[in-house]
Amino acid sequence: MRIAMIGTGYVGLVSGTCFSEFGIHVTGVDKDARKIDLLHQNVMPIYEPGLDELVAANVKSGRLEFTTDLKAAVKSADAVFIAVGTPSRRGDGHADLSYVYAAAEEIAQSLEGYTVIVTKSTVPVGTGDEVEKIIRKTRPDADFDVVSNPEFLREGSAINDFMRPDRVVIGTESERARAVMKQLYRVLYLIETPIVFTSRRTSELIKYAGNTFLATKITFINEIADLCEKVGADVHDVAKGIGLDGRIGKKFLHAGPGYGGSCFPKDTLALVRTARDYQAPLRIVETVVAVNDERKKRMAERIVAAAGGSVKGKTVAVLGLTFKPNTDDMRDSPSLDIVPALTAAGAVVKAFDPEGMDEARKLLPDITYCEDAYQAMDGADVLALVTEWNVFRALDFDRVKSLLKAPVIVDLRNVYEPAMMEEAGFTYTGIGRG
Ligand code: UDX
Repeated sequence: MRIAMIGTGYVGLVSGTCFSEFGIHVTGVDKDARKIDLLHQNVMPIYEPGLDELVAANVKSGRLEFTTDLKAAVKSADAVFIAVGTPSRRGDGHADLSYVYAAAEEIAQSLEGYTVIVTKSTVPVGTGDEVEKIIRKTRPDADFDVVSNPEFLREGSAINDFMRPDRVVIGTESERARAVMKQLYRVLYLIETPIVFTSRRTSELIKYAGNTFLATKITFINEIADLCEKVGADVHDVAKGIGLDGRIGKKFLHAGPGYGGSCFPKDTLALVRTARDYQAPLRIVETVVAVNDERKKRMAERIVAAAGGSVKGKTVAVLGLTFKPNTDDMRDSPSLDIVPALTAAGAVVKAFDPEGMDEARKLLPDITYCEDAYQAMDGADVLALVTEWNVFRALDFDRVKSLLKAPVIVDLRNVYEPAMMEEAGFTYTGIGRG
């Protein structure tokens, strides 16, 4: 089997490399020659734990290669995956499908022999129909099927999520396409991974409904956390108590500053727009979007309150800038609301993030970037833990106390226990730890 993976970003590079690990020949295609050059030097365009070793091993084995030449890659492929970006369209929140449609057009011109075209990117319901129309119009003679095969990769654990998925979802009504997709995922078949075959539109909706439900679950526990603070309950224990109900499940019940990332914010917005277009508004999800946006904006107030009601002329140490640990991704990160609000309130911000500072500098230019957590907190009036990187989970609190001007900590990820922190002599603010 040979496939072409169009797009070498968070989805395409991980998916293509993992397919080559399955023994399939993969040609990763990208318009951005710089990215392809970097990949030829085994330099990754994104940070994903373990990716560089996996790419190197499969390039060495001859199963994985990279090129800017889409035509050649498509010609020899049994299946062509579209894994290009589908960002939120400026202004209205619909998914911007221009890259998907451009790829479909280019693919159409290069098709030879029966080929399965697979939308791997997160695309609104009905996009597969549109892609099929574009290809059919360009090449009425071509023999092809368009299939939906959404990814469920979490940044920071994307390789594991691909190699050991909870399920694979494949949307097609074509028996031939089904046979090709079964062959591609044969390795997962062998470890009895559930392969869910649906219609194409159903598959497209599954992706959005899944992400949107997870975003709703997080927002639910975030609001419960606010209630916990009022009634003197502990959201950590509430999450544990409800999570043990098999119908609810323990995951995605960690209260925090609000969800960010490249998926939840854009997918919730896109699904809300689709639902409105089809006169079936998702009012719960519309509320989730509004509540989450407002929550991220409000987080800075907690830091100001902990600093005594004003941060004017004060120094705030911020630990973590990325939207979650184990990624360099800053997209829709809570820090992009929190840090500007602090500087607008007159604070000097000193920050450290293990992987995200190169990205962060482009978005938060007027703060001080430090070498490590302790340099960030040196001389600070308050310490704010914004992203729960492992390196922040075992701080030397004697050293913390000696560096901070005052022992004040705001822990937006509930990494630490309030009782332990108070015992250590800190004024500690968590989330929902009433
Ligand atoms: C998500 C989906 O999990 C994945 O299936 C999909 O393919 C892409 O989008 P990702 O955005 O990489 O993955 O990160 P995820 O781990 O899901 O976290 C998303 C956001 O929710 C982060 O901002 C994270 O901090 C937040 N979160 C997550 C919480 O606030 N609480 C939780 O319990 C879990």
